[in-house]
Amino acid sequence: MADLKVLFATPEVAPLIKTGGLADVSGALPAALRAIGVDVRVLVPGYNQVTEQLEHHQVVATFDDLPGFPSSRLLSGTMAHGVPLLVLDCPSLYQREGGPYQNTHGHDWADNALRFGLLSKVAAVLGSKASPLTWHPDLVQCNDWQTGLTPAYLHFAPDAVPSVIAIHNMAFQGIFPPAMVQKLDLPPACFSIDGVEYYGNMSFLKAGLFYANHITTVSPNYAKEIQLKELGFGLQGLLATRSDHLTGILNGIDADEWNPATDPHLVQQYSSANMSGKSANKTALQSKMGLNIQPDIPLLGVVSRFTHQKGLDLLLEVAPLLTELPVQLAMLGTGDAHMQKTARDLSHLHPGKIGVVIGFSEELSHQIEAGADMFVMPSRFEPCGLNQMYSQRYGTPPIVHATGGLVDSVVDCTAATLKDGSASGFMFDGMTAENLYATIQRAVSHYRDKNKWEILCKNCMAKNFSWKNSAEAYLAVYLKVLGR
Ligand code: ADP
Ligand code: GLC
Repeated sequence: MADLKVLFATPEVAPLIKTGGLADVSGALPAALRAIGVDVRVLVPGYNQVTEQLEHHQVVATFDDLPGFPSSRLLSGTMAHGVPLLVLDCPSLYQREGGPYQNTHGHDWADNALRFGLLSKVAAVLGSKASPLTWHPDLVQCNDWQTGLTPAYLHFAPDAVPSVIAIHNMAFQGIFPPAMVQKLDLPPACFSIDGVEYYGNMSFLKAGLFYANHITTVSPNYAKEIQLKELGFGLQGLLATRSDHLTGILNGIDADEWNPATDPHLVQQYSSANMSGKSANKTALQSKMGLNIQPDIPLLGVVSRFTHQKGLDLLLEVAPLLTELPVQLAMLGTGDAHMQKTARDLSHLHPGKIGVVIGFSEELSHQIEAGADMFVMPSRFEPCGLNQMYSQRYGTPPIVHATGGLVDSVVDCTAATLKDGSASGFMFDGMTAENLYATIQRAVSHYRDKNKWEILCKNCMAKNFSWKNSAEAYLAVYLKVLGR
């Protein structure tokens, strides 16, 4: 496959800049594709966090006359795992204090249309005859709305390569006023129902879904769900008509980064063959989170954005009831201010039983995956979800709502699935506090049977969520699109 070249355009890539799972995917998938012979290069905006970490870069192109956009440059570098990186340097758009999408007060940057319009535009230039680089991709892989205009620009460019867009989350769409169509140098005719128009505005995501040669999303089950009204965010009709060009591919996980046998963040490493180290991690976590040191009480872990999507409101509703059970709760996350306050208040009301850290901590997220007995992820919707896969790898069965990629990656524990060795967690249908509570109770009662629990943990650890399978599925899509 040495002759297949793919430009991977993304708004975030771990470990350089991360707000969520998209960064993990952008860090790992290109490396997995390279491992099977695809020449992938990653294009990412030059935010402060990225340029500060970029060593020995070279300027490989300048763009002084892209209509509607300020001048920009392309810097080339290499990621730690060897994947070549192209950084889109445009200080007036990307060099600022704050996150990739929002300022330090949590408000979207007012010029996001321009910021991600430029990212989309440059990706398209690199995929067209106008590219200043000597490296010419055969295909551009886009990710989410921030690169949604790339397929549109490619569609209108002469002799451009095809594009694939991966949907990581339909909830974020990049909706802007219609005037942006002209400002972003798109042909006025594309502002139509058969184009970028979305309920009177323009939508970056819709542009991607309409013009891309193929659409992927991050789990087979989510691929079905987004063709229905409930989770289609108004784009279900378009997706259903494009269903022949829509493929769900379950994300993998970085098996080196998330490996309890080598994880440097753990007080003691462990493996499926020798689980003894897990209890030392539990004690360390209890101590770090201000929980009572009790080895036998089931400890529930949470690492999440505190949002409606993740169902954290439901968990916080159930949390006071949980304090009456013999369980502890360790939560790490940031997000909705009201949810953060509720979580903090709960930890003050129930010291020793509920521990909460508001913030983003890679280290603590690993320690929770390892130290908890169960991982709670009651997402209302979840395109794929990574934490439930990390937790299984750490022998920490997840408790999940039956939605999206959670259905594709967790097998509910029943007599039958315990018997056939597939059980790996606990799943509930119906997004209610009662159902979540009942499922936590069900998990706790299984926990009391030590033999059964050990089997369940080992089933989890035996699962293969490697990126290799997913990379092969992406490659199959690329070959189909290219007619090879
Ligand atoms: P999403 O991208 O929707 O937030 P995913 O499950 O796909 O959900 O990915 C979330 C990623 O972000 C995981 O790698 C998870 O460990 C990480 N993460 C989320 N919140 C935090 C946090 N507060 N601290 C550290 N890592 C976090
Ligand atoms: C999004 C989704 C999440 C998915 C991640 C990576 O952030 O919310 O479910 O795992 O993208 O694809």
